Formats: sequence, structure tokens, C-alpha cells
Amino acid sequence: MDEVGRIFGDVGLGQFHLGLVQPVERGDYLTVEDDLHGRVLCQLDDLRRKSDLDLEGADALGKGTGTEETIHQNLLGLARIIGYRDDQGIVKIPTIPFRPGAKVFRAEENLIADVLGLKHRGNTGAYVGLLRNHSLRIELDINQLVQRHVSVLAKTGGGKSYLLGVLIEELLRHKVTCVIIDPHGEYGSLRIPAEANGVHARFHVESQGFGKQIQEYSPDAVLNPAAKPLTFSLRSTDPRDLLIFMGLNNVKMFLAPLKTLVEAVATTNPDYTVHDLVLAAQRGEGPAIEALHERLEYVEQTKLLAPQGTSLSDLVQKGVATLINLRGVAPDIQELVVARIASTLFENRKKGKIPPLFLVIEEAHNFAPQQGTATCSRILKNIASEGRKFGLGLCAVTQRAARIDKSVLSQCNTQLILQVTNPLDLKAIAQSIEGLTPGMTDMIQSLPVGVALVTGGGYHTPLFCEVRPRATKHGGESVKIVDN
Ligand SMILES: Nc1ncnc2c1ncn2[C@@H]1O[C@H](COP(=O)(O)OP(=O)(O)OP(=O)(O)O)[C@@H](O)[C@H]1O
Ligand SMILES: [Mg+2]
Repeated sequence: MDEVGRIFGDVGLGQFHLGLVQPVERGDYLTVEDDLHGRVLCQLDDLRRKSDLDLEGADALGKGTGTEETIHQNLLGLARIIGYRDDQGIVKIPTIPFRPGAKVFRAEENLIADVLGLKHRGNTGAYVGLLRNHSLRIELDINQLVQRHVSVLAKTGGGKSYLLGVLIEELLRHKVTCVIIDPHGEYGSLRIPAEANGVHARFHVESQGFGKQIQEYSPDAVLNPAAKPLTFSLRSTDPRDLLIFMGLNNVKMFLAPLKTLVEAVATTNPDYTVHDLVLAAQRGEGPAIEALHERLEYVEQTKLLAPQGTSLSDLVQKGVATLINLRGVAPDIQELVVARIASTLFENRKKGKIPPLFLVIEEAHNFAPQQGTATCSRILKNIASEGRKFGLGLCAVTQRAARIDKSVLSQCNTQLILQVTNPLDLKAIAQSIEGLTPGMTDMIQSLPVGVALVTGGGYHTPLFCEVRPRATKHGGESVKIVDN
């Protein structure tokens, strides 16, 4: 085995210091031979170079009067103990500290795989990438993802949508039903196979399109021609929601006259259309009715409300990912669409009328904000706290961990974290995730694109994962302003 250093100083039960004789990187896996339990897996959490060079010595070097050869220096590491697997397969930490002076080795792949639980999960595994600097596959437990919710967190451009694309490809391979709230219309590219390259070979990924398992709906099917029109049933839209569709937020002024108008039209024609409401408003008098008339004409143009809305059996199909493309749709209407869809899915999942499914919310800080409200906040919070009982998994994707509702974030038991640099977002992440060491929080700030910290998903300790390449084309490529 490859010796990298020796334990020194006070030795704790969770961590120890070591003097390094070989360069090791933060995050590398190490092992110490324990008298009672054999090899124990550890991970380097921090590194420091200690030296006797003082300020005067540094000054002298600057002036050319000193020499670097006289500096005494040592490379010191802080390692975290992960544990060993006992006879029953349970991961345990030794209850007696290691001996000072004990040798520390680089851990071998079979020990890492065994203690971390990196195994082929067959039908229940979603292959998201390889353990960083190793060739061990990280497969997330699909049942845990759906039952216990997921969050994907990173700064803008950090690779959230790319990684989510990887996850959805895996869910589709396993015939898991998904509904994806896609505010930028990025996920239609899941139909198109990626151009395979050397990276695909290294990760053993074949390019593949999922055209047969993707369907797309949009409230604006003119702007998004690959989508079918998404409409809601007018009769089941109460006047309060109708005001939101109309873009009128003065409830005090408009709710009562709108209610009167709808009731009058509904009594003469139970199958009324938005056009019938427009005609009735046209006949009315007064400033409120005139404003209602003008806004109802706008709603008629949007074609969002129809006597028969899009049927649930069309919207949710087993093993299919339904994209709700909201590109070009006004923010308040986006919230209403999310609220209507999320509550329909939740109610029908409770009754068992639709298959268990995974509901993905991109830009989740807009739909379940920590401050202020969104029309869909309440239903998303309900799904986060109760959805798992009914087989409705939530996946919240956000670039602002600090701005998403904390009760939603803390219910996500699998976190996929890419680079985050904003101190407020880092604080929110550190507070919502168990088992994150200060060293890991530090590392999140400098993660390169394509490396994620994975917590949960069937693993007992956080793992750094090199995200596998997409089998399909990524739809969220950054737009070049100036060409080469
Ligand atoms: N694992 C990866 N391998 C290779 N390239 C990647 C990877 N992840 C992301 N990228 C590239 O980085 C860029 C940004 O990725 P992505 O669109 O996923 O970011 P994002 O976090 O969703 O950003 P935004 O918050 O703006 O939506 C893209 O051009 C993408 O191709
Ligand atoms: Mg994105």
C-alpha cells in the first residue's frame, strides 16, 4: 500500500491530524489500519503547510538577502474518519482513537467502494457520474429520489440544467413518469442524441435520444411550436384565479363584479366560454366592468382557458416526461400554471388516478420563494412535506439557495450541489444539509464545472461526483455574444 503520512498530536474519534510525506489532495480517500477493525476509510478534509518562516525572513527573501533552503516546512493534513463496514454490513466509526504515529495510506478502490456503498443498483440505480478521481460509478437510488425529494443547487452557469438532464435521462431509462416545469424551454433537447466524443467513452455512456418518451405542452404554443397547447378548464377556474389570468391584482375592486358576471353567464349557459364572458362584460357599464371587459378580451386571446381543459390522462403518461414549456409566458401566469398543475397532480396522486411521478421545478426560487409569495408556494410546500406519502417526488432546482423557501429546501433529502460562491447561498446550504464538513463547504466554492457534491440518494456520506456526459443534447448552452 502507498504510505502518505503519519498521525500526530491529539487524535479524536471523528478526525485526526497527519504529517504528509507525499502530496495528497483535499477530498482524497485515505486509510488507517485499526487494531480491532482492520482498515478504516478516511478522507482528507483540509491541508496546511506549516513553516518557521517569519515576517523578517520573508522580507529578507524579498530583498535577496535570505535563502529558501533554510526554511523548515511540513505539509499537514486534517482527515475525517468515514468508517469501516462491520460483519452485518453496517458502517461504523471506531470507538477508540487511532494511535499517534500510526501510518496513513492512500485507500484502495475496493475499500472505498465497499465503505461508501458504491455498487451496481440494477433496476433502482440512476447513474449520474463517477467518484471524483476514481472510476467508481455513483448510482443514486431512484426510489429515494422520488420518495424523499431532490434539490439541485448551483450558481448561474454552474451546470444545474445539464445535471438535471442526466438525471431525467436515467429516470426515462427506468420508465419513471416525470413532469418538468421548464421556464426557459430547455428540455426539448432530450429528444436529440448528443454528439458522442472521448468523454462518452470514458464514462461508458452511449448517445441516445428520448423522443418517444418526451411530450411537450405550453400555454404559448405559437411561440413554442414543438409544444401542444396547454389549456385549463374554464368552469373549474374560480373568479379569484381568473383575475390572475386577467392580470388584475386589485381583488377588492374586481372580484365582486367578476363573480356577479360569471354567475349571470353560467346560469344561462353552463357550457360558457371566455367569449361569452367578454360579450356579457361588453353589455355592462361602469369603470370596473369596462376594465374587466378589456382584460377578458386579453384572456380570450391567450387561449389558456377553454370549456374543456387539457385532460389529465393526456398530460401524465406512464414512463413519459411531460415538459411544461413556459418560455415567453408572463411570470404571474407561470405561477398560476404551476399552481394548477401541481395541485392537480397532488390530488390525483392521492386518489391513485395517476402513476407515481417526479415533479421537477426549474428556477424554484421563483415558484416557492423564501420572501414574498407566489400563487403556487403553498401547494409546493404541501408537496414537499407530504408528497412522499403519495409517491409524488419533488425536485427543486435553483441558483439561489438563500431565496428558496427553507421548508422546501430542508425536505429535499438528496442534494446535488455544484459550484456556489454567494456567501448567503452557502450558508443556506450548510444549514440544510447534515454531514457537510467546513472543508466540503469550502470546496463547493471552487468546484469546476462538471463536478457535483452529492448527499443522500442512498449514500451515508457526501460524495464528490464527476458528472457523466449527457446522452442527449444539452439545451441550455450559454449564448455567445461575440464569436471568435
Ligand atoms: N457536466 C458537464 N460537462 C460538460 N459541460 C457542462 C457540464 N455541466 C455544465 N456544462 C456546460 O456549462 C454551461 C452551463 O451549464 P447549465 O446550463 O447546466 O448551467 P445552469 O446552472 O443551469 O445555469 P442557469 O442558472 O443559467 O440556468 C453549459 O454551456 C454546459 O454545456
Ligand atoms: Mg439552467
